[in-house]
Amino acid sequence: MDWQYNIISTGAALPKQCVSNAQLIAAKGLDSHPDWIESRTGITQRYLASEGETTFTLARDAAQQALATAKLKPADIGHIIVATCTPDLTFPSVAALIHGALGMGPQCSVLDVNAACSGFIQALAVAQGLLATSEAEYAVVVGAETFSNLLDWSDRGTCVLFGDGAGAVILHKQKIAKGSKKSGILATSQGASGEHAALLHSAHGVARGRTSGTVQMNGREVFKHAVRQMGEVPPMLASHGVQLADIDWLIPHQANLRIIEAAAQNLGLPMQKVVATVAQHANTSAASIPLALHTAVTDGRIQRGNTLLLQAFGAGFAYSSALIKW
Ligand code: ACO
Repeated sequence: MDWQYNIISTGAALPKQCVSNAQLIAAKGLDSHPDWIESRTGITQRYLASEGETTFTLARDAAQQALATAKLKPADIGHIIVATCTPDLTFPSVAALIHGALGMGPQCSVLDVNAACSGFIQALAVAQGLLATSEAEYAVVVGAETFSNLLDWSDRGTCVLFGDGAGAVILHKQKIAKGSKKSGILATSQGASGEHAALLHSAHGVARGRTSGTVQMNGREVFKHAVRQMGEVPPMLASHGVQLADIDWLIPHQANLRIIEAAAQNLGLPMQKVVATVAQHANTSAASIPLALHTAVTDGRIQRGNTLLLQAFGAGFAYSSALIKW
């Protein structure tokens, strides 16, 4: 017997309030122009959490949608993993809040993963590992952020880039006959260059200032590193006998359309094979890949049998990739 790990459903949740570039500039009194933001980043709007909307509420709603689509009950779930760096509370985890709200059983584990923008892929890998070593059959994996809580609204170089939202998937462990062709997660890879942590960080935390701080970023340097890293062909493709030409869809972290275009070009993939939702969602950090995945699954672009490459890069710098047979 062998095992495979398939994403069997997706879900998403966005705040009610959608804010165009012009509305953001007016609301925050920014010295900027909608065309500057769009031409430099591809972003035309973002969703921003308002009263009553938090990382937890968005994560819960996305998870609930993924559960409903998979026709599962909360008691079927063995693990909840939430990728976020903007949790409601320092503890307990957002995953624990979901557990309480949706009524998962006592056998269901809860865990948050903080790897900033590359958190969702890392959470998927953690979920696969937890399923592999437990009796559980299903895991909920969520990427959820309210980055609007981390922004310095007087810093026009960063505050125009981010939005809030959540995306979720259900990961299903299935027994298959030994040696049969696998679908689902074929491989993941992770890495980091921690020496660059200062190029993108929040200046405070619990142990340094007793506050979350705000996003501090060297935009030009982050841009260069992101293009280089997300444009590298992960070695796991070759080790799984997959050529770049076999990739049906690249689902990159949605930071900036120029980063996505340059990374796709470095990879040698045409933009027709790239899922880009940054124009609508802006950069939602750990939520960006599951939101893009949900969008392309829902609109029918991603079909069963497709080969997907997920590529993420973010603060740390932490990077991650996943190769998935849908
Ligand atoms: N509106 C108008 N002007 C602005 C704005 C704005 N919102 N922000 C910056 N400017 C100005 C700058 O002050 C500067 O003015 P100056 O020449 O008078 O000094 C000018 O525009 C050019 O600034 P640069 O920072 O050089 O502009 P650049 O072309 O590099 O674009 C940007 C800036 C969009 C931030 C780009 O560097 C970028 O996208 N970097 C990647 C950052 C990123 O995506 N971070 C997300 C987190 S990381 C991740 O998710 C992977």
